[in-house]
Amino acid sequence: MPPGRWGMVTDKALARGLLAALPMIMVIRLLSLTAAVLVLEACEPRVQQQPPLQPSASLQELMQNIIDPSADGVWNSVETVVTQSGESTHQPRIPEEWMQVRCAAITLAESANLLVIEHRRVGVKPFPAEARGALDSGQIQTLIDNQRAAFDGFAVALREAARTALSAIDARDPVRLVSAGAAIDQICEGCHLKFWYPNQVIPSLPSAPPRAVMLGPKQP
Ligand code: HEC
Repeated sequence: MPPGRWGMVTDKALARGLLAALPMIMVIRLLSLTAAVLVLEACEPRVQQQPPLQPSASLQELMQNIIDPSADGVWNSVETVVTQSGESTHQPRIPEEWMQVRCAAITLAESANLLVIEHRRVGVKPFPAEARGALDSGQIQTLIDNQRAAFDGFAVALREAARTALSAIDARDPVRLVSAGAAIDQICEGCHLKFWYPNQVIPSLPSAPPRAVMLGPKQP
């Protein structure tokens, strides 16, 4: 057989043979992989792996730099201004404006995922309670650690509300966008009330107007 022809036959035969053998090769590979995993699992002690997600920002930085600005981007996108000359509604109209609010809603939805990453410090440094009824960073940390599921629940609710805002944006529906914004606001407030200022004191409104103070020379 001339070398050229031999080469052709060999290539074809080899290709056909390989094709036929491929599933078998894959099965053998899979089997050997499974066996290797089983052997590893049986022999190796379980090594505690580093979590693949490692937060860089503190919770406070997340609030200040990502969550608050992106929520503002959603809230400020539709506004009704009432003046003496009437009412005017400001809302996204051109594609660039819709893209801008979309960017804010996407950031907000994804930032909610960042909230559920564990081992995030509350502050870069410990900080004191901001006002009466608010907690300091240590107390906030303890509360989050003790009630992780509730904390994550608020984060998931925030993500879903931001997604509702996103679908309103994609439908170019400012009315739905405003109601999604209100839902987002309630979730922020709900989490803050539970984890940031659970003991806040809301001053009660005076039941009667203060009595007029009489000024004048003191009566003897
Ligand atoms: C899962 C809980 C949770 C959600 C949801 C949440 N926050 Fe917070 N936020 C906190 C906690 C806890 C603090 C207090 C600790 C701190 O200052 O970071 C805080 C603090 C803040 C602060 C003050 C940061 C500072 O300067 O100390 C701002 C602003 C803020 N949040 C905005 C928002 C907005 C806006 C939303 C909603 C779009 C929101 N947060 C949603 C938990 C949450």
